[in-house]
Amino acid sequence: MLKLGVNIDHVATIRQARYATMLDSKNAEPDIVMAALAARRGGADSITMHVRGDRRHVQEEDVFRVKEACKLPINFEMASTAEMVAIALRLHPEFVCLVPENRQEITTEGGLDVSEQKETLRATVGALRDGGSKVSMFIDPEEEQVRASREIGADMIELHTGSFANSEGSIRKEELTRLAAAARVGSQLGLGVNAGHGINYDNLEELFGIPHLEELNIGHSIISRAVMIGIEQAVREMVVMMAGYGGEQ
Ligand code: PXP
Repeated sequence: MLKLGVNIDHVATIRQARYATMLDSKNAEPDIVMAALAARRGGADSITMHVRGDRRHVQEEDVFRVKEACKLPINFEMASTAEMVAIALRLHPEFVCLVPENRQEITTEGGLDVSEQKETLRATVGALRDGGSKVSMFIDPEEEQVRASREIGADMIELHTGSFANSEGSIRKEELTRLAAAARVGSQLGLGVNAGHGINYDNLEELFGIPHLEELNIGHSIISRAVMIGIEQAVREMVVMMAGYGGEQ
């Protein structure tokens, strides 16, 4: 069965929008641990969090708190830097997904160029595997990148579905063909095959034709839907509480 890794980065994005400088405040919300527990109750198979170099959303302490409280496998997304390797070696997540990171980007924009950075990435993958994590490479669906991931000792690949999600018409068909071809090569090479980025409630089923998929990592669409289906209830609760106002006696 296809597994679901829920990316809860954007729960932290909302919290940071108000409390970035007051994380210890009793008012700091939403609580990322509560979000992870809710994802687990909903059927998530793992929790994904990306601590970025600029700490724009998830903070280091968030991942430790979620790992302690949630008891689902953690998929720790990170750039291949000494700082992040050190965090991963203290955290011991079940999975690490290596991603490119560019300070200007709004989200992870492209896959890792594994074939261009084999030596540095090999060292990172080795250190993380020695620390007990399974390591995934977030790559564009290109055979060269799949093969390079295998060569440097990765356990898995996560195929970047962003181009597929943003494409239309015949290009969209080509993107699906590329994803399927990359998944086949990955599986033939003995790599686990995951996918993620831009997957939503509308495009999910189009991915069902891609063979060998084990886990999808989905964040933005789930958090967006959670906001939309939750607003009515949240407003209702506030309205009920406000009805307690007595006014001037
Ligand atoms: N996988 C990776 C490697 C990512 O960087 C992201 C975005 O943080 C996702 C999956 C989830 O993408 P989305 O938020 O578009 O569902």
